[in-house]
Amino acid sequence: MKNLKGKVAAITGAASGIGRALALNLADEGCHLAISDINVAGLQETADMARAWNKTVRITTHQVDTANREQVKQYAEDAAKAHGAVHLIINNAGVLLLETLEDVSYKDFEWIMGINLWGVIYGCKEFLPYLKKQDAAHIVNISSVNGIFTNPNNGPYCTAKYAVRGFTETLAQELADTRVKVACVHPGGIKTNIANNARFYKSCDPSLVREDALAIFNKAMAGTSADKAAKIIIAGIKKNKMRIMVGTDAYVLDWLKRLFPVGFQKITGRKTAAAWMKKMAGLKS
Ligand SMILES: NC(=O)c1ccc[n+]([C@@H]2O[C@H](COP(=O)([O-])OP(=O)(O)OC[C@H]3O[C@@H](n4cnc5c(N)ncnc54)[C@H](O)[C@@H]3O)[C@@H](O)[C@H]2O)c1
Repeated sequence: MKNLKGKVAAITGAASGIGRALALNLADEGCHLAISDINVAGLQETADMARAWNKTVRITTHQVDTANREQVKQYAEDAAKAHGAVHLIINNAGVLLLETLEDVSYKDFEWIMGINLWGVIYGCKEFLPYLKKQDAAHIVNISSVNGIFTNPNNGPYCTAKYAVRGFTETLAQELADTRVKVACVHPGGIKTNIANNARFYKSCDPSLVREDALAIFNKAMAGTSADKAAKIIIAGIKKNKMRIMVGTDAYVLDWLKRLFPVGFQKITGRKTAAAWMKKMAGLKS
């Protein structure tokens, strides 16, 4: 979709991080917004900020839990009704959970799959009928570099993000002959609230408490700003890229995994990954 001016974009998880930055940058492009989140106060803040960025765009806010199919269905209906059309859905809402696959409770596993996978599936299926009515439309699903390689104690997140990639790449093939373009986004580390809001039980090194894990993520891993991430994603949408990598780390990690599919999994395994991450964050081993 080359020109976003005057189009209507729906974004989930728009109260914070990448979702908020996408809303502001799309407003800057002249795109009307139907933004959603479970966090109503944060969502209102995003709407106010977007209005300050561009007074000419129409903005509606929608309280939506993406893990709830009925709410996502209603969101699509309300967004289309309020704006007369929807051209772009960005399935962005996501959460993080650190625990081993052995010990993770089914409740926590279902929580993360509900938001990170089912939320994406509901968003695609419920918005698709509205997108297909347009001359040009786009579906953008936010996976992760963890849709390409895995880390120990991050299994539920990796499971969801690999599944988002499988779902999105299949959808792109199925919609190839339509006017609806599909993109899968793989961000590396982005400075947002995702780690601060994570359900933290155990990270890959048992000696790391929550504060250490947060310090590692915020200091050593999250190298790209949310604003930069949003600009890269929007540039990818304009070029109709099917695969959008965000951040130098994402490119490097993707290539290492391709070159050394087994060896790379070993170095991102427990001992090496934990020692490297501690060093990067300036923590004692
Ligand atoms: N930050 C990173 O390093 C990074 C890397 C790769 C992928 N991602 C992905 O980017 C996306 C955005 O995450 P972020 O980093 O901006 O995090 P963030 O925590 O800053 O923002 C996530 C937003 O999702 C919302 N949300 C959570 N549960 C929800 C639900 N049930 N329904 C609706 N909204 C809900 C939150 O309220 C929040 O506003 C996620 O899918 C995440 O997995 C992030």
